[in-house]
Amino acid sequence: MRIIITGGAGFIGSHIADAYIAAGHEVVVVDSLWAHGGGRRDNLPPKASFVHMDIRDAGIERVFRDFAPDVVSHHAAQHSVAISSRDPALDAQINVLGLINVLDNCVKAKVKKVLFASSGATFGEPDVLPANEQTPQRPESPYAITKMVAEHYLRFYKAQHGLDFTAMRYGNVYGPRQDPNGEAGVISIFIGKFLAHQGIKIFWDGEQTRDYVYVGDIARLNEIALTKGSGSCYAIGTGKKTSVNEIYRALAEVTGFEAPIEWNDRRPGDVRDAQFDSSLAKAELGWESTTSILDGMRQTVEFFRHASDKPTSTKAQNAASKRKGAQKAGLPA
Ligand SMILES: NC(=O)c1ccc[n+]([C@@H]2O[C@H](COP(=O)([O-])OP(=O)(O)OC[C@H]3O[C@@H](n4cnc5c(N)ncnc54)[C@H](O)[C@@H]3O)[C@@H](O)[C@H]2O)c1
Repeated sequence: MRIIITGGAGFIGSHIADAYIAAGHEVVVVDSLWAHGGGRRDNLPPKASFVHMDIRDAGIERVFRDFAPDVVSHHAAQHSVAISSRDPALDAQINVLGLINVLDNCVKAKVKKVLFASSGATFGEPDVLPANEQTPQRPESPYAITKMVAEHYLRFYKAQHGLDFTAMRYGNVYGPRQDPNGEAGVISIFIGKFLAHQGIKIFWDGEQTRDYVYVGDIARLNEIALTKGSGSCYAIGTGKKTSVNEIYRALAEVTGFEAPIEWNDRRPGDVRDAQFDSSLAKAELGWESTTSILDGMRQTVEFFRHASDKPTSTKAQNAASKRKGAQKAGLPA
């Protein structure tokens, strides 16, 4: 298949690009290497073509027309809850207007299907856990609102234009390449500190839990969704809750270092627990997460051990990329 991955230089998108290329698909990545995201040129598989472009750019039309993709995997987003709360307009420009630009051009280029990175955050704090597709969506941040709105647009474009979709409401995805400077990835943030033998901060009492799903399992899900899950949204997780304290203990075991802990108050808006029931994805897609949290953390620690030998930071790399005049790399001939 011919596949465009928006946000494919980022953490999750680049693992999907690896999986698609390994399966023999032709991949074009469209990514703006946004300063506040985790996108890096280093993440791109050598066989993927790269277009340095914002999803809001009208130039997307030429990219879609020239490459004529069968499927578009839409992973580019503004995904910081903090930025979305400070600047809801920016969040909506990228996550809603950017999405609409992508969908309009899917229709023009006769794309068959869009895969969408939605979020478990669209559920807010459900009354009953684990959350599944029957759980009401009560998003609590502008970020989560735009992810939920995006699902409605997908339904509209399918009904109006016959553009098929699968939306995947990810739990907390973790693994190699996750930006350790971001706000979302407590596992990668902790690993960075453990490997540097520095102290860590724990908010609240550390007993708050999340459903951490390994990025390799997410890449496999995105391969399956190329041909399955027509017109559906899925709750995606492991079904297990893991507390911050459990992550701390596992990392202490894996790295052999007991990081000093600075205890802090609960942050406003922090939810107590998150847990997702992916029975529907198992029944309809044949997908379930298979990587245990300990195995996933071991692989992530290994990655960061090697990455810490390299001097380039995301910011330095993105600045270098911008200095190059933000050239828009051409498409494959
Ligand atoms: N990481 C998680 O736990 C998680 C959970 C739920 C949903 N998601 C969603 O998965 C997707 C990927 O997230 P990630 O964790 O890999 O983040 P990431 O920051 O590593 O990747 C996002 C990519 O999108 C690019 N991007 C941002 N704005 C853009 C724009 N306007 N135009 C073009 N490219 C742009 C960034 O440069 C980056 O490469 C996002 O849509 C996110 O909302 C992630």
